[in-house]
Amino acid sequence: MMLVLLGPPGAGKGTQAKRLENLRGLVQLSTGDMLRAAVAAGTELGRKAGAIMQRGELVPDDLVVGLIAERLDAEKDVSGFILDGFPRTIGQAEALDELLQSRGLQVDRTVVIDVDDDALVERITGRFTCASCGEGYHDRFKRPQVDGVCDKCGATEFKRRPDDTEEVVRSRLEAYHAQTKPLIGYYSKQGKVRAVNGMADIEMVQKEIDQALDAA
Ligand code: AP5
Repeated sequence: MMLVLLGPPGAGKGTQAKRLENLRGLVQLSTGDMLRAAVAAGTELGRKAGAIMQRGELVPDDLVVGLIAERLDAEKDVSGFILDGFPRTIGQAEALDELLQSRGLQVDRTVVIDVDDDALVERITGRFTCASCGEGYHDRFKRPQVDGVCDKCGATEFKRRPDDTEEVVRSRLEAYHAQTKPLIGYYSKQGKVRAVNGMADIEMVQKEIDQALDAA
């Protein structure tokens, strides 16, 4: 199964991808996570990408396509992938089709998580993660059971993404509407798109995605 999770910043792509990994044994490939790792490691790619990400703009296609190609080749014995945050432009979608075709694969399903722009700003600016295990939290929607202590690993350090300020979120949303939303039409023409209501709670969104994946 090759699943593309499509949706604006903060729609819940990462949240749902993690759940799908556990439920369906698929592997999440998040270009956002890969780029943040490159920035943290101070690689040449990280140096190129960091400033662009901080402005809320998209990193050039060739850089992210290269990252995905490497990971597809590195993880051969898996039952499938969840592409989270990739593709994000028509150029990336075309490059992905070529990459998959040459490996005897194709995109099987595209799930679009729909959320209103105003809700997204609140979701993103309230988000934080455990600095140790990466478990995700939110100031309002998902607080740790004991304040200041990670539910999953017990660590007490948390972090916020530098691009999660309101100003940068607005730029990320602009990039989504201008460059990524056209992908809904691209995959609709191939009959691969199912939309789910991302305004519902996390459990309900998961159920809808599950149904979308099982639908013919
Ligand atoms: P990336 O890391 O991909 O960020 P994004 O697309 O902006 O998405 P987010 O990770 O912010 O949100 P999400 O949809 O995963 O939501 P989440 O589950 O965390 O990209 C960052 C940057 O990297 C880009 O701006 C760009 O510069 C660059 N980049 C990455 N990929 C690229 C590419 N392919 N091409 C070019 N550049 C690229 O949820 C958000 C919050 O809401 C959480 O707190 C969560 O707990 C909460 N939440 C989730 N679901 C619900 C719900 N149903 N109800 C209430 N709260 C919810």
